[in-house]
Amino acid sequence: MEWNTLFLEKEGNIALLTINRPKALNALNPEVLTELGQAVDVITADDEIFVVILKGAGEKAFVAGADITAMKDMTALESRAFGILGQEVFKKLEYMPKPVIAAINGFALGGGCELAMACDIRVATEKSKFGQPEVGLGVTPGFAGTQRLPRLVGKGRAKELLYTADMISAADAHRIGLVNHVVAEDQLLEFCKSMAKRIATKGQIAVRLCKAAVDQGLEMDVDKSMAFEADIFALCFATSDQKEGMTAFVEKRKPNFIGK
Ligand code: CAA
Repeated sequence: MEWNTLFLEKEGNIALLTINRPKALNALNPEVLTELGQAVDVITADDEIFVVILKGAGEKAFVAGADITAMKDMTALESRAFGILGQEVFKKLEYMPKPVIAAINGFALGGGCELAMACDIRVATEKSKFGQPEVGLGVTPGFAGTQRLPRLVGKGRAKELLYTADMISAADAHRIGLVNHVVAEDQLLEFCKSMAKRIATKGQIAVRLCKAAVDQGLEMDVDKSMAFEADIFALCFATSDQKEGMTAFVEKRKPNFIGK
Protein backbone atom coordinates (compact mmCIF):
# COMPACT_ATOMS: atom_id res chain seq x y z
CA MET A 1 0.00 0.00 0.00
CA GLU A 2 1.26 3.49 -0.91
CA TRP A 3 0.85 6.45 1.41
CA ASN A 4 1.63 10.18 1.05
CA THR A 5 2.92 10.70 4.56
CA LEU A 6 4.30 7.32 5.65
CA PHE A 7 6.49 4.57 4.40
CA LEU A 8 6.66 1.01 5.56
CA GLU A 9 9.69 -1.22 5.07
CA LYS A 10 10.26 -4.79 6.17
CA GLU A 11 13.49 -6.38 7.37
CA GLY A 12 12.74 -10.02 8.13
CA ASN A 13 10.10 -10.05 10.82
CA ILE A 14 10.61 -6.39 11.70
CA ALA A 15 8.62 -3.52 10.19
CA LEU A 16 10.05 0.00 10.02
CA LEU A 17 7.25 2.54 9.84
CA THR A 18 8.37 6.13 9.12
CA ILE A 19 6.26 9.26 9.41
CA ASN A 20 7.45 11.23 6.42
CA ARG A 21 6.79 14.97 6.63
CA PRO A 22 10.28 16.14 7.58
CA LYS A 23 9.75 19.74 6.39
CA ALA A 24 6.97 20.13 8.98
CA LEU A 25 8.95 18.10 11.55
CA ASN A 26 6.51 15.23 10.90
CA ALA A 27 3.58 17.14 12.40
CA LEU A 28 0.37 15.15 12.55
CA ASN A 29 -2.42 16.38 10.30
CA PRO A 30 -5.62 14.43 9.53
CA GLU A 31 -3.94 12.75 6.54
CA VAL A 32 -1.04 11.41 8.63
CA LEU A 33 -3.43 10.15 11.29
CA THR A 34 -5.68 8.45 8.74
CA GLU A 35 -2.72 6.82 7.01
CA LEU A 36 -1.25 5.76 10.34
CA GLY A 37 -4.50 3.97 11.14
CA GLN A 38 -4.35 2.22 7.75
CA ALA A 39 -0.71 1.22 8.32
CA VAL A 40 -1.62 -0.33 11.68
CA ASP A 41 -4.27 -2.44 9.89
CA VAL A 42 -1.75 -3.54 7.24
CA ILE A 43 0.85 -4.45 9.88
CA THR A 44 -1.70 -6.29 12.02
CA ALA A 45 -2.79 -8.41 9.05
CA ASP A 46 0.77 -9.21 7.90
CA ASP A 47 1.80 -12.51 9.49
CA GLU A 48 5.46 -11.94 8.60
CA ILE A 49 5.67 -8.88 10.88
CA PHE A 50 6.40 -9.62 14.54
CA VAL A 51 7.70 -6.26 15.84
CA VAL A 52 7.34 -2.65 14.65
CA ILE A 53 9.79 0.25 14.92
CA LEU A 54 8.10 3.65 14.53
CA LYS A 55 10.23 6.66 13.66
CA GLY A 56 10.13 10.11 12.11
CA ALA A 57 11.84 11.06 8.86
CA GLY A 58 14.72 13.52 8.87
CA GLU A 59 17.33 14.44 11.43
CA LYS A 60 15.36 16.77 13.69
CA ALA A 61 12.12 15.23 14.87
CA PHE A 62 10.24 12.11 15.76
CA VAL A 63 7.03 14.19 15.62
CA ALA A 64 6.82 17.87 16.67
CA GLY A 65 3.13 17.63 17.54
CA ALA A 66 -0.25 17.88 15.97
CA ASP A 67 -0.15 20.17 12.94
CA ILE A 68 -0.69 23.69 14.30
CA THR A 69 -1.29 25.14 10.82
CA ALA A 70 -4.06 22.59 10.23
CA MET A 71 -5.60 23.25 13.68
CA LYS A 72 -5.34 27.03 13.80
CA ASP A 73 -8.74 27.83 12.26
CA MET A 74 -10.64 24.75 13.36
CA THR A 75 -14.02 25.20 14.99
CA ALA A 76 -14.74 23.49 18.30
CA LEU A 77 -16.60 20.71 16.48
CA GLU A 78 -13.81 20.20 13.95
CA SER A 79 -11.17 20.10 16.68
CA ARG A 80 -13.26 17.57 18.61
CA ALA A 81 -13.35 15.31 15.54
CA PHE A 82 -9.58 15.81 15.04
CA GLY A 83 -8.90 14.95 18.70
CA ILE A 84 -11.06 11.84 18.50
CA LEU A 85 -9.34 10.76 15.27
CA GLY A 86 -5.95 11.05 17.00
CA GLN A 87 -7.16 9.25 20.11
CA GLU A 88 -8.65 6.41 18.08
CA VAL A 89 -5.62 5.91 15.84
CA PHE A 90 -3.26 5.96 18.85
CA LYS A 91 -5.51 3.48 20.69
CA LYS A 92 -5.48 1.22 17.64
CA LEU A 93 -1.67 1.39 17.64
CA GLU A 94 -1.50 0.75 21.39
CA TYR A 95 -3.87 -2.22 21.23
CA MET A 96 -2.35 -3.71 18.07
CA PRO A 97 -1.18 -7.19 19.07
CA LYS A 98 2.42 -6.64 17.90
CA PRO A 99 4.95 -4.71 20.02
CA VAL A 100 5.87 -1.23 18.82
CA ILE A 101 9.20 0.43 19.65
CA ALA A 102 9.32 4.22 19.21
CA ALA A 103 12.73 5.27 17.86
CA ILE A 104 12.71 8.92 18.94
CA ASN A 105 15.14 10.75 16.70
CA GLY A 106 14.66 14.34 17.94
CA PHE A 107 11.62 16.32 19.08
CA ALA A 108 8.68 14.41 20.56
CA LEU A 109 6.36 17.27 21.48
CA GLY A 110 2.62 17.49 22.03
CA GLY A 111 1.01 14.92 19.74
CA GLY A 112 4.51 13.50 19.13
CA CYS A 113 5.04 12.79 22.82
CA GLU A 114 1.50 11.38 22.91
CA LEU A 115 2.29 9.12 19.95
CA ALA A 116 5.48 7.90 21.60
CA MET A 117 3.50 7.12 24.76
CA ALA A 118 1.05 4.99 22.74
CA CYS A 119 4.00 2.78 21.73
CA ASP A 120 5.14 -0.09 23.95
CA ILE A 121 8.79 0.91 24.38
CA ARG A 122 10.50 4.27 23.85
CA VAL A 123 14.16 4.74 22.87
CA ALA A 124 15.55 8.28 22.60
CA THR A 125 18.84 9.80 21.51
CA GLU A 126 20.87 12.31 23.51
CA LYS A 127 19.37 15.03 21.26
CA SER A 128 15.71 14.10 21.78
CA LYS A 129 13.44 16.59 23.53
CA PHE A 130 10.10 15.89 25.12
CA GLY A 131 7.18 17.97 26.27
CA GLN A 132 3.51 18.80 26.15
CA PRO A 133 3.62 22.44 24.96
CA GLU A 134 -0.13 22.72 24.41
CA VAL A 135 -1.01 25.18 27.19
CA GLY A 136 1.43 27.59 25.52
CA LEU A 137 -0.90 27.47 22.50
CA GLY A 138 -3.97 27.96 24.65
CA VAL A 139 -5.17 24.36 24.45
CA THR A 140 -4.90 21.08 26.32
CA PRO A 141 -3.30 17.99 24.80
CA GLY A 142 -5.86 16.29 22.58
CA PHE A 143 -4.46 12.84 21.76
CA ALA A 144 -4.72 11.38 25.30
CA GLY A 145 -1.58 12.99 26.72
CA THR A 146 -3.46 14.01 29.85
CA GLN A 147 -4.24 10.31 30.36
CA ARG A 148 -1.14 8.39 29.25
CA LEU A 149 1.43 10.80 30.75
CA PRO A 150 0.31 10.43 34.40
CA ARG A 151 -0.01 6.66 33.94
CA LEU A 152 3.58 6.56 32.71
CA VAL A 153 5.42 9.08 34.92
CA GLY A 154 3.00 9.66 37.83
CA LYS A 155 0.50 12.40 38.52
CA GLY A 156 2.85 15.06 39.97
CA ARG A 157 5.44 14.87 37.20
CA ALA A 158 2.73 14.77 34.53
CA LYS A 159 1.03 17.85 35.93
CA GLU A 160 4.30 19.78 36.02
CA LEU A 161 4.97 18.97 32.35
CA LEU A 162 1.38 19.78 31.37
CA TYR A 163 1.10 23.07 33.31
CA THR A 164 4.54 24.50 32.49
CA ALA A 165 4.78 23.28 28.85
CA ASP A 166 8.50 22.82 29.62
CA MET A 167 10.63 20.97 27.12
CA ILE A 168 12.78 18.35 28.84
CA SER A 169 15.97 16.58 27.79
CA ALA A 170 16.25 12.90 27.00
CA ALA A 171 18.19 12.43 30.24
CA ASP A 172 15.30 13.91 32.25
CA ALA A 173 12.76 11.91 30.26
CA HIS A 174 14.75 8.80 31.14
CA ARG A 175 14.97 9.78 34.83
CA ILE A 176 11.17 10.10 35.12
CA GLY A 177 10.45 6.91 33.19
CA LEU A 178 9.13 8.54 30.03
CA VAL A 179 11.73 6.70 27.94
CA ASN A 180 13.31 3.28 28.41
CA HIS A 181 16.75 4.07 26.96
CA VAL A 182 18.85 6.99 25.73
CA VAL A 183 21.45 6.08 23.11
CA ALA A 184 23.88 7.93 20.82
CA GLU A 185 22.22 9.37 17.73
CA ASP A 186 24.08 7.08 15.30
CA GLN A 187 23.15 4.02 17.38
CA LEU A 188 19.38 4.61 17.55
CA LEU A 189 18.17 2.38 14.74
CA GLU A 190 20.64 -0.41 15.42
CA PHE A 191 19.71 -0.39 19.11
CA CYS A 192 15.99 -0.59 18.28
CA LYS A 193 16.54 -3.27 15.64
CA SER A 194 18.60 -5.34 18.04
CA MET A 195 15.83 -5.15 20.66
CA ALA A 196 13.20 -5.95 18.00
CA LYS A 197 15.22 -8.98 16.88
CA ARG A 198 15.46 -10.27 20.46
CA ILE A 199 11.67 -9.97 20.78
CA ALA A 200 11.17 -11.60 17.36
CA THR A 201 13.02 -14.77 18.43
CA LYS A 202 10.59 -15.40 21.31
CA GLY A 203 7.22 -17.13 21.25
CA GLN A 204 5.05 -14.55 19.49
CA ILE A 205 1.77 -15.72 20.99
CA ALA A 206 3.30 -15.25 24.44
CA VAL A 207 4.72 -11.82 23.51
CA ARG A 208 1.32 -10.68 22.26
CA LEU A 209 -0.44 -12.03 25.33
CA CYS A 210 2.05 -10.17 27.57
CA LYS A 211 1.14 -6.98 25.73
CA ALA A 212 -2.59 -7.61 26.22
CA ALA A 213 -2.05 -8.51 29.87
CA VAL A 214 -0.18 -5.30 30.65
CA ASP A 215 -2.36 -2.92 28.63
CA GLN A 216 -5.73 -4.42 29.49
CA GLY A 217 -4.78 -5.57 32.99
CA LEU A 218 -3.79 -2.06 34.05
CA GLU A 219 -7.31 -0.87 33.22
CA MET A 220 -8.93 -3.54 35.45
CA ASP A 221 -9.14 -3.94 39.20
CA VAL A 222 -6.45 -6.21 40.59
CA ASP A 223 -8.65 -9.32 41.06
CA LYS A 224 -9.89 -9.15 37.48
CA SER A 225 -6.40 -8.55 36.12
CA MET A 226 -5.04 -11.55 38.06
CA ALA A 227 -7.87 -13.72 36.68
CA PHE A 228 -7.03 -12.40 33.20
CA GLU A 229 -3.39 -13.34 33.69
CA ALA A 230 -4.36 -16.83 34.90
CA ASP A 231 -6.47 -17.28 31.76
CA ILE A 232 -3.79 -16.17 29.32
CA PHE A 233 -1.13 -18.21 31.14
CA ALA A 234 -3.38 -21.27 30.72
CA LEU A 235 -4.03 -20.36 27.09
CA CYS A 236 -0.29 -20.59 26.39
CA PHE A 237 -0.41 -24.27 27.37
CA ALA A 238 -2.75 -24.90 24.45
CA THR A 239 -0.05 -23.74 21.99
CA SER A 240 2.72 -25.61 20.18
CA ASP A 241 5.09 -22.82 21.19
CA GLN A 242 4.74 -23.71 24.89
CA LYS A 243 5.51 -27.38 24.16
CA GLU A 244 8.46 -26.37 21.98
CA GLY A 245 9.79 -23.72 24.40
CA MET A 246 9.79 -26.01 27.42
CA THR A 247 10.97 -29.11 25.51
CA ALA A 248 13.86 -27.10 24.04
CA PHE A 249 14.86 -26.00 27.54
CA VAL A 250 14.87 -29.58 28.79
CA GLU A 251 16.78 -30.77 25.69
CA LYS A 252 19.27 -27.87 26.12
CA ARG A 253 18.71 -26.44 22.62
CA LYS A 254 17.26 -23.25 21.14
CA PRO A 255 13.49 -23.30 20.64
CA ASN A 256 12.03 -23.17 17.18
CA PHE A 257 8.81 -21.22 17.69
CA ILE A 258 6.16 -21.30 14.99
CA GLY A 259 3.64 -18.87 16.48
CA LYS A 260 0.94 -21.51 16.91
N1 CAA B 1 2.71 21.91 13.39
C1 CAA B 1 2.93 22.43 12.17
N2 CAA B 1 4.15 22.77 11.71
C2 CAA B 1 5.19 22.58 12.53
C3 CAA B 1 5.04 22.03 13.80
C4 CAA B 1 3.73 21.69 14.23
N3 CAA B 1 3.49 21.11 15.43
N4 CAA B 1 6.25 21.96 14.41
C5 CAA B 1 7.12 22.45 13.49
N5 CAA B 1 6.49 22.82 12.37
C6 CAA B 1 7.08 23.39 11.15
C7 CAA B 1 7.45 24.86 11.35
O1 CAA B 1 6.34 25.70 11.18
C8 CAA B 1 8.51 25.04 10.28
O2 CAA B 1 7.85 25.18 9.06
P1 CAA B 1 8.40 26.30 8.00
O3 CAA B 1 9.79 25.84 7.65
O4 CAA B 1 7.43 26.17 6.85
O5 CAA B 1 8.37 27.61 8.68
C9 CAA B 1 9.20 23.68 10.25
O6 CAA B 1 8.31 22.74 10.87
C10 CAA B 1 10.50 23.66 11.05
O7 CAA B 1 10.22 24.14 12.35
P2 CAA B 1 11.00 25.37 13.04
O8 CAA B 1 11.52 26.30 12.02
O9 CAA B 1 10.11 25.93 14.09
O10 CAA B 1 12.22 24.57 13.69
P3 CAA B 1 13.03 24.97 15.01
O11 CAA B 1 14.20 24.05 15.05
O12 CAA B 1 13.28 26.43 15.06
O13 CAA B 1 12.04 24.62 16.23
C11 CAA B 1 10.46 23.25 17.43
C12 CAA B 1 11.64 23.27 16.45
C13 CAA B 1 10.92 23.72 18.80
C14 CAA B 1 9.98 21.80 17.51
C15 CAA B 1 9.35 24.19 16.92
O14 CAA B 1 9.08 23.86 15.57
C16 CAA B 1 8.05 24.06 17.68
O15 CAA B 1 7.94 24.60 18.76
N6 CAA B 1 7.06 23.35 17.10
C17 CAA B 1 5.75 23.23 17.69
C18 CAA B 1 5.76 22.27 18.84
C19 CAA B 1 4.38 22.21 19.48
O16 CAA B 1 3.89 23.18 20.02
N7 CAA B 1 3.74 21.03 19.44
C20 CAA B 1 2.44 20.83 19.99
C21 CAA B 1 1.39 21.01 18.95
S1 CAA B 1 -0.25 21.03 19.63
C22 CAA B 1 -0.65 19.40 19.85
O17 CAA B 1 0.13 18.50 19.59
C23 CAA B 1 -2.05 19.20 20.34
C24 CAA B 1 -2.46 17.81 20.58
O18 CAA B 1 -2.12 17.19 21.56
C25 CAA B 1 -3.44 17.19 19.69
